[in-house]
Amino acid sequence: MRHAGHFVRLLALVAIAAVGFLFVRSQVIPKDFGVKGHYRLSAVSDEAAREPRHLGSEACAECHDDIAAEWTAGKHTTPQCENCHGPGLMHVKKVSDDSTAGYPDKILTQYENAINRGTGIHECRWCHLKTFERPSTLKSIASVEKHIALRKGTFTPDTKCTDCHNPHTAIAK
Ligand code: HEC
Ligand code: HEC
Ligand code: HEC
Ligand code: HEC
Repeated sequence: MRHAGHFVRLLALVAIAAVGFLFVRSQVIPKDFGVKGHYRLSAVSDEAAREPRHLGSEACAECHDDIAAEWTAGKHTTPQCENCHGPGLMHVKKVSDDSTAGYPDKILTQYENAINRGTGIHECRWCHLKTFERPSTLKSIASVEKHIALRKGTFTPDTKCTDCHNPHTAIAK
């Protein structure tokens, strides 16, 4: 047993490492972790306290009553305002002069770009280009060029769906 001292030192090191690990773990893991499952219980209320970024079409109608009325009377009531225009929170804060302090510039620009979203072809194609997984009841177009040629239009790189369709009613002008 000439070398027993080595084992003792090794064991001591392992014990120190284990205690150290348990100590750090007890310090970094939130107190309410694992109360109901493998998550931090207060994360639920933290998420619930966040401001919803989508306000719903009724909120938009408060100021854009003309467009909302047109939309309600048209044939395009399944897509909601914010499906096309993006989340409205920052837009409404801005036009109502509510403070946007505390939101990073990046987020504000992102929202501003969303509300001013392009009105070209891609936004309509998100939903209307024929793909095999979409319901057959949704009116789709197989090819933009063919659709436009069929309707006696001329397709150019600048062509927009809104050249012919009112986006809020879906009715062709
Ligand atoms: C408190 C009133 C108010 C509410 C609520 C509101 N808006 Fe507006 N909106 C405005 C005003 C005022 C303008 C014009 C000034 C501007 O462009 O900043 C505008 C402009 C717009 C524009 C045109 C942007 C542009 O620059 O051409 C879009 C699109 C729009 N709103 C969509 C929405 C949507 C979608 C909602 C619902 C999430 C909404 N708005 C809710 C007041 C409002
Ligand atoms: C299917 C997509 C779609 C939906 C749904 C939609 N919009 Fe629009 N909206 C557009 C497009 C595209 C334009 C740009 C029209 C153009 O450039 O001719 C536009 C333009 C606007 C504008 C600015 C131009 C204008 O006509 O005054 C406002 C404000 C607006 N929409 C508000 C709304 C509101 C409010 C709703 C819900 C009631 C809504 N939109 C629903 C696609 C949509
Ligand atoms: C978020 C998905 C979505 C987007 C984006 C969208 N649509 Fe639609 N569209 C629909 C749905 C769903 C219908 C079926 C009618 C309904 O339920 O409102 C429809 C119906 C239509 C119809 C047929 C209306 C009829 O019954 O005669 C036309 C035309 C149309 N959309 C054009 C457009 C144009 C143009 C754009 C782009 C400005 C656009 N859509 C963007 C979902 C969308
Ligand atoms: C040159 C004008 C023109 C352009 C540009 C145009 N459409 Fe149309 N579209 C029409 C006409 C006209 C109808 C038939 C309207 C009706 O029957 O009420 C129609 C019908 C539709 C329909 C209903 C299904 C069908 O085939 O009858 C959908 C969906 C549609 N368009 C989507 C789009 C989308 C998405 C774009 C852009 C990629 C677009 N349209 C561009 C003129 C046009």
